[in-house]
Amino acid sequence: MCGIVGYIGNRSAIPVLMDGLKKLEYRGYDSAGVAYINGNGLEIKKTKGRIEDLHKILPFPLPECKIGVGHTRWATHGEPSDRNAHPHACGGVVVVHNGIIENYQQLRSRLTSEGHEFSSETDTEVIPRLISSHMEKGNTFEESMKKAVSDLRGSYALGIMSGNCPGKLFAIRNGSPLVIGVGQNEYFFASDIPAFLQFTNKFIFLEDGQICMLSRDDITVENLGPNGSSKKARQSSGAKVVEISWTPEMAEKDGFDYFMLKEMYEQPRTVRDTMSEWLDNPPKMLDSLGLTPKMVLGLRRLHIAACGTSYHAGLVAKYIIEALAHIPVDVEIASEFRYRDQLIDKNNLFISITQSGETADTLAAQREASKKGAFTLSICNVVGSTASREADSVLYTRAGPEIGVASTKAFTAQLAALCLIAIALGMKRGRLIAAEAETLINQLKKMPSLIEKALASGKHVKDIVGRIKGSRSMLYLGRGINYPIALEGALKLKEISYIHAEGYPAGEMKHGPIALIERGLPVVVIAPMDNLFEKTLSNIEEVKARGGKVIVVTDEPGLRTKADEVIEVPPAHPALSPFLNVIPLQLMAFWSGVLNGTDVDKPRNLAKSVTVE
Ligand code: F6R
Repeated sequence: MCGIVGYIGNRSAIPVLMDGLKKLEYRGYDSAGVAYINGNGLEIKKTKGRIEDLHKILPFPLPECKIGVGHTRWATHGEPSDRNAHPHACGGVVVVHNGIIENYQQLRSRLTSEGHEFSSETDTEVIPRLISSHMEKGNTFEESMKKAVSDLRGSYALGIMSGNCPGKLFAIRNGSPLVIGVGQNEYFFASDIPAFLQFTNKFIFLEDGQICMLSRDDITVENLGPNGSSKKARQSSGAKVVEISWTPEMAEKDGFDYFMLKEMYEQPRTVRDTMSEWLDNPPKMLDSLGLTPKMVLGLRRLHIAACGTSYHAGLVAKYIIEALAHIPVDVEIASEFRYRDQLIDKNNLFISITQSGETADTLAAQREASKKGAFTLSICNVVGSTASREADSVLYTRAGPEIGVASTKAFTAQLAALCLIAIALGMKRGRLIAAEAETLINQLKKMPSLIEKALASGKHVKDIVGRIKGSRSMLYLGRGINYPIALEGALKLKEISYIHAEGYPAGEMKHGPIALIERGLPVVVIAPMDNLFEKTLSNIEEVKARGGKVIVVTDEPGLRTKADEVIEVPPAHPALSPFLNVIPLQLMAFWSGVLNGTDVDKPRNLAKSVTVE
């Protein structure tokens, strides 16, 4: 989705903005632009294409300026083009916007009848025009801006600046992510933390309905009210600044050619970091999350909602939590969750799983569960994100910034967090005997080194991918707890390599998908040595009998005689095998993307953080 940045301070603003935009590239975009104020007043440069294209149209030498805003656009209203690129301006006021203005048609008609001539097809252009329209009626710039915002419906993070007010920047948030970076006599705003990590690790997370006014020496935060009214926010004097532990290096490629590759190889560390604080005493974690013994014992049902890869982590968790804690678990895609009458009450625990903490559908599901009285717990990777602030409690995954659009290290970190929850609930509810808990905990302690071993299959996986190059479709089969891993493998392949893929429970093959199998179709089968092994073996035979090319992910070397290709992973406790089985599937998607020449870190049409419905 779009990314916005803003800067005011003593540095040369354009390089800071360009660098910030580069760091937000992972969000997905098709055009980019900046606006800055220099000795000649307000200037705007924008273009369809990449940040490199924007670089080419900047003046040389760069104009000296200390204030500016920037934008990467992911087209929603209007095709990717120079004129639809942001910033948009009217009467000296420039706006960059992430989100969707739902009533823009109505506003556009109103403004057109006042004589405004629109130069783009975007929903955003109504905003500078509205501000201008209020200014023409005698309001000051600031009054006009607040009045304009009260006319808007939808979700937005806005960066606003005026050529007539060169010492101030404005950032407004309603439903789309926006953080304020706090430096020494300089301030930043951005859609996400990595944009300015090299300048500061101090951030303010605006609430919905807030406006932040940034000058070189100060910021103030106000709550916006109806009809352009506003009131200083309680936190405004010395607004709550959160210091985050991410370093700029964590958001760099660190010698790897791709973020996705780096992030896959980070998994031993990120899984370890996520668990380390609680592994010796998981039940203590529940106390610290505010889940009292009374609540835990009274729990009747657990609801999990999430999207995409995070949803797959939730599906894995269902198997583990039901097995270890004996609590029924419903897992639902967040975009479906709020559109039916959820039977949730105060005896239910709701868990949202979200890497970004900003996924619109997941936030909506969490709000719905909260409204119905459930205790809400968010498993989230970004400190200060909306999900983490709005939930009753947060369990942070310690994956560090995930920049590659395809989620990898966040997924295994989510599994780690969910395993801790399952073990803790099982122990607290007296369902998990001490010896079994100890076995699981010991195995989890070894998980980082087991993941490292699974990652060692990288070169072998790359060779296999080379041998199936040219296939336009693939099937992924798994059973039980590894069925969600089949779904995850198929999702990864689709998004990174644009090859069609389906994930299926292996036992469901005969009910339809088997018709797809023809000579040479690559079929990835996850076949751990567990209680379902023999059944999976039969599925392998069925695929082979129809000419499918079987690629097996297994801890059983004996399968070499049965499959066309075998990828070995280390043996693991059956409840924990998803950690290891997912690794070759991530690598397979990655190498398929690379060999097909796709933009692996920024696949087409995708955005890292889906902040609109
Ligand atoms: C897939 C992927 C997406 C996200 C989904 C949810 O690789 O990254 O499917 O998992 O958009 O995002 P979060 O976890 O940020 O809510």
